[in-house]
Amino acid sequence: MPSAPPLGQVQAAFPDWSIKQLIGEGTFKTTYKAEKDGLLEAIKLFYVPEFEDSEEGATARINFLGRLSREIHLLGQCKTPYLVKLGCIEPNEINIGGVFFIAYSEQLLTGVTLRNLINCEVSSLGRRNQSPFTMSRRSDIRTLGETRLCS
Ligand SMILES: Nc1ncnc2c1ncn2[C@@H]1O[C@H](COP(=O)(O)OP(=O)(O)O)[C@@H](O)[C@H]1O
Ligand SMILES: [Mg+2]
Repeated sequence: MPSAPPLGQVQAAFPDWSIKQLIGEGTFKTTYKAEKDGLLEAIKLFYVPEFEDSEEGATARINFLGRLSREIHLLGQCKTPYLVKLGCIEPNEINIGGVFFIAYSEQLLTGVTLRNLINCEVSSLGRRNQSPFTMSRRSDIRTLGETRLCS
């Protein structure tokens, strides 16, 4: 994924919104905190790479976009309070600084991420050189962090 588009470029792409800050970057998505008429949402930019201009390239693109499409469809369908809700920006393709993204928004989640929580826990265990966890629990936590379950 290319580096996160600067705030100014994202702001220009969403003139109705006030882009407050870059929240974070995942495997394919970059998330920004944004506000419109007092409503705070997370604007998500899903990076779409260039595909070869051929039938194979077109199929690869459809397969690639299917990943996001399934995620958004699922979020739209699931009523569980344990999953983030979609926001008011419907998925649409945009070009920011010459790079293509699918942009959409979600409810803004605040607080510490599971990834941060695990990283803090593991580093504070290292500092104290003692652990409330058994060795196997500690390595379980590392494995969790590495597999990006928390993104
Ligand atoms: N709805 C949200 N509210 C606040 N932060 C979010 C939200 N969704 C994702 N993030 C943050 O955005 C970054 C990218 O995560 P994510 O969207 O899951 O990317 P990917 O699925 O490509 O790994 C992470 O730092 C994550 O914590
Ligand atoms: Mg994710």
